[in-house]
Amino acid sequence: MDVPRTEVASALPRLVGRSAAWTSTLEKAARVARGRTRVVLTGESGVGKSIVARYLHGQSPRAHEPFLTISCASVPDTLLESELFGHEKGSFTGASKPRMGRLRQADRGTAFLDEIGEMSLRMQGLLLRFLETGEVRPRGADAPDICVDVRVIASTNKDLFAMVADGRFREDLLYRLNGSHLAIPSLRDRREDIPLFVEHIMASCGRRMPVAPAVMQALESYSWPGNVREIQNVVEQMVAVASGPAIELADLPPRIAATTAPGSFVPRRERRRRLADDLYEQLLSGSCGFWEDIRPLLLNRDMTRADLRQLIGLGLAASGGTYRGLLTRFGLPPQDYKRLLNFLAAHDCSVDCREFRAGDGPRATSEPDLRDRRLRRDMAWKSRLSGSGQTVV
Ligand SMILES: Nc1ncnc2c1ncn2[C@@H]1O[C@H](COP(=O)(O)OP(=O)(O)OP(=O)(O)O)[C@@H](O)[C@H]1O
Ligand SMILES: [Mg+2]
Repeated sequence: MDVPRTEVASALPRLVGRSAAWTSTLEKAARVARGRTRVVLTGESGVGKSIVARYLHGQSPRAHEPFLTISCASVPDTLLESELFGHEKGSFTGASKPRMGRLRQADRGTAFLDEIGEMSLRMQGLLLRFLETGEVRPRGADAPDICVDVRVIASTNKDLFAMVADGRFREDLLYRLNGSHLAIPSLRDRREDIPLFVEHIMASCGRRMPVAPAVMQALESYSWPGNVREIQNVVEQMVAVASGPAIELADLPPRIAATTAPGSFVPRRERRRRLADDLYEQLLSGSCGFWEDIRPLLLNRDMTRADLRQLIGLGLAASGGTYRGLLTRFGLPPQDYKRLLNFLAAHDCSVDCREFRAGDGPRATSEPDLRDRRLRRDMAWKSRLSGSGQTVV
């Protein structure tokens, strides 16, 4: 059975950021902290909602009272109910002892309801009752409800208003929760903070290293869908694998290295050819994976659909025009055949393999005329892929 992830506050880590977007968020947080309103924190995954919740508590008049985090994600209703409200002995199978809920434990302090958008409608009803009355009723209790004084902070990476419109989130609960709203900016909206994060993360790993300017440029250009959590992983990995005294481009994960535009202006077609060629080499050498690296590049728009078609074209050209051959070259197991075709079709990146079958067998990618044909084909792809004449093998 899943166990709710609940934690008690520990010391507040240092908050990194000097960008205007981050500074104004923190200023608003400090103002909100001093008040008594409930707070909803929104933002993409990994932007720092949990850390800001701790900051709010730490800056509030309740700073010396308890702060408890209750994760509402992936927790069965019954378990979340006793986590929040407690239960009486014997109130359900396995309830061998009575339990005090987290809301009671957080009395006079703050309860942080993480990922509130995951809460079932039934639990939303119970939470609404608590917010309206301040009363906690443990599961299976006959005794009168217990009144507590808890400031509630909730967070989500979902659009709660859209969920209300779809009937998945209670409107009355949203208005009860949303006394103040803080939107935490994504890392790509505060790129000036990236060098600070790099330095901060290296310091926390205990290994400060110089970073090549091209690496910093790549880090600043990348879209960071996983935000601060992702940059933490990337910097920790780079520091761990760096072979020289400084972090170089070769130490970057391919999805991030691909965002660099070294040197001066590179025409789009030339850039595309370089990117496809580089990724192709990396796939062949096994230093990058299709699902682990190429897929996120496309989804995060660090490579275009034309780039991916170019890459697939390279694979087909070298595999005699068969997707099965391409799978082998790209280090993918045969059972990924359908998954790959579906992925390419879903993103309008399917490539007609018939063209690559003309001639007598697999061709080397270094053939001098191949690049020219790739370019011409690239331009013609869009018009040709009407669907009906498309063949995939
Ligand atoms: N401004 C910041 N300064 C220092 N560390 C930060 C900052 N923002 C986020 N972090 C760190 O990044 C990681 C992710 O932050 P956090 O868990 O608060 O994000 P989140 O928005 O709650 O993510 P999720 O939606 O996945 O729950 C944590 O290790 C956190 O300490
Ligand atoms: Mg969180």
